[in-house]
Amino acid sequence: MIGIAKPRIDGPAKVQGQARYAVEYPVDNPLYAVIAKSTVAKGTIRNVDSTDAEKIPGIVQVIHAGNALKLTPYPTGPDTRFAAIYGESILPLQQQEVVYVGQAVAVVIATRIEDAWLGASRIKIDYDIEEPAVEREQEEGYVKPSAGEGLQYERGDLEAARAAAAFVVSEEYSVPTEHHNPMEMGGTTVLWNGQKLTVYDATQGVANTQACIAHCFGLPPENVRVIAHYVGGGFGCKAFFWSHTLLAAMAAKITERPVKLILNREDMYTLMGHRPETFQRITLASDKDGKISGAEHITSSYNSETGEHFEPCGITSARLYNIPNFAMHHRYLKLNLPSPTYMRGPGESNGTFALESAMDELALKLDMDPVELRMHNYAASNLEQQRPYSSNKIRECYQRGAELFGWQNRNQNPGKLLKDGRLVGHGMASASYPANLSPGSCTITLSGDGSATVQTAVQDIGTGTYTVVGQITADALGIASDRVEVEIGDSDFPRGPMSGGSQVTASVGNYIIKAAEQLKKQLIELTVQQSDSPHYQASPESLTIAQGTIRDTNGNSEAIESIIRRSGQDILTAEVSSKKGRGFGTPPSQSEPGSSFQSFGAVFAEASIDPDLGVITIPRIVGVYDVGTIINPKLAMSQLYGGIIFGYSMALLEATEFNDTGRIVNADYAEYHVPVNADINDITVEFLNEPDYVFSKHGGRGLGEIGTTGTAAAIANAIYNATGKRIRSLPITLDKLL
Ligand code: MOS
Repeated sequence: MIGIAKPRIDGPAKVQGQARYAVEYPVDNPLYAVIAKSTVAKGTIRNVDSTDAEKIPGIVQVIHAGNALKLTPYPTGPDTRFAAIYGESILPLQQQEVVYVGQAVAVVIATRIEDAWLGASRIKIDYDIEEPAVEREQEEGYVKPSAGEGLQYERGDLEAARAAAAFVVSEEYSVPTEHHNPMEMGGTTVLWNGQKLTVYDATQGVANTQACIAHCFGLPPENVRVIAHYVGGGFGCKAFFWSHTLLAAMAAKITERPVKLILNREDMYTLMGHRPETFQRITLASDKDGKISGAEHITSSYNSETGEHFEPCGITSARLYNIPNFAMHHRYLKLNLPSPTYMRGPGESNGTFALESAMDELALKLDMDPVELRMHNYAASNLEQQRPYSSNKIRECYQRGAELFGWQNRNQNPGKLLKDGRLVGHGMASASYPANLSPGSCTITLSGDGSATVQTAVQDIGTGTYTVVGQITADALGIASDRVEVEIGDSDFPRGPMSGGSQVTASVGNYIIKAAEQLKKQLIELTVQQSDSPHYQASPESLTIAQGTIRDTNGNSEAIESIIRRSGQDILTAEVSSKKGRGFGTPPSQSEPGSSFQSFGAVFAEASIDPDLGVITIPRIVGVYDVGTIINPKLAMSQLYGGIIFGYSMALLEATEFNDTGRIVNADYAEYHVPVNADINDITVEFLNEPDYVFSKHGGRGLGEIGTTGTAAAIANAIYNATGKRIRSLPITLDKLL
């Protein structure tokens, strides 16, 4: 079943409208909650006047800091368990201070959502306004991120390498603030039953939502059941826990009725995080033959006054090439802007844009083929972790990508190739993303009819988790994948990891395969003891289970359900249990101390540009990836297409614009540009499909984010090659080319 291009098993429910999302669950007598947001970037609320709002028929209640329930603050200091799961350190409506425009300052609850919207627009708030800090590009005032000691890191002697270098590239690259914009906005339906509550939440981690709600309301976690059967995309904005989920729970508790709260598109721009703008200074020092002896990567970014996020752009640079002398630093400004968070390939997406653009600039100085330059600096080891990679087949990715793209026929003279009146150019870049894996728990039951049910509290954010969990389970049990019922997206199930860090497929593989092996062992132990079994007293090693059938080496076989029936038991059960598994990616460094785990790829792009108008088209992109075993080629391909389109969008379209009062001026789909079908042309994706069994039991390494890495640089390099203009500031819009 592993390696089969099975269509998603959740597809029919989705296209028939039967898949229920967080706010679609039918509940009796619901109320609708809408968040009123601050209009100032810094200040203190003097008074909330809800008189006009409360005059609207259907308004049930207005909650603000003056009458909100008190919540237990998140722990601060050395207890970092929570830092990885909350989006902001201050809790909503617990203080009068406002630290950014668009912060939740009141909640209006009504019997109809339209009334709640109207009510929210009629809340009048008096502020003591202070001068906000919103300037993102400054000389002074930076601090080091409090989390992530490894973000400031040096090895070797960079200054000496630089002094001895034949060629040096040192440039600054910028990527603007960007927003995730998943189809489904953040939303929650909450029902209280005494001291227990059920929360339908649009989340990338049911266990995270459970932990945060339980903590803030002072409840044991088992009192909080979080359900996310279907999630309409996340890209990172649903990976952490945000204010609206707490506010929905608070509203339901206060009104003693079920409450539904769905953010609108504008709310998504300030209440669920974003990728912060980054300025990256990259320095590369090489000898005359293109051996890179030194590199430096300094990332400057911003944070809100209540966030913990940092954009770890330098990490890929510390690992991707064999550079003996290296330094990376990360710093940010604390500003009165909304809280940033992780967004698909956080750090890696921005970081590879800068690094791989600089590599192209270096290749040009060296007069060297950009592929050859990268080949020449291949890293068999992760120099940052001082461990060899379990596997690094990036050279095969370059080779195969070059072949598929026709790299040998590329344009050799920047700005010179005209085809049908358009400037044509070619560029490439490396792609890379860490291979993450977390422990987790599951239960598999095998019924008397030979079908299996697997339960684990992971969630499918649209990526195909239902389908691959079914395939992995079926494959490990040796039964057909349509005989497996997959039950996920419910915190009542055994704890599984969050959908973040491209880790779920690898993680579930490890613990599900372990549970399935236990079940097969049980079947074999039973059958050799059953006197009426064809395998009575057979040696367990001689028996194998495949296609729902148990076989010995003499050709005797029977269906596995016969063993269960003869045993007199209704079901057989196996459990794998881990106390951990809440968190983000934790590479399996304890089990495999000798290796470093990373995925790799190579992206090639063609640019076609109107020389008079600067209009950019990208006719072709080719990506070849080394991500271990491909569990499901159809779904894997769709993740990589999506990742590449994300990178395309980053290269050419996306930018969140702030004005000088800290307000976002394009907080909607009309003015925040993302690609449509007409923008996207030919994308070719191939996988090496080489198993990495050092990393995971099925050999897969995860592939949700790697597609976004490298793509923007490949496009920027192709645009340079077409026009002779190096654009170091994304997005590359036509005005920058004219
Ligand atoms: Mo992803 S940014 O790790 O949810």
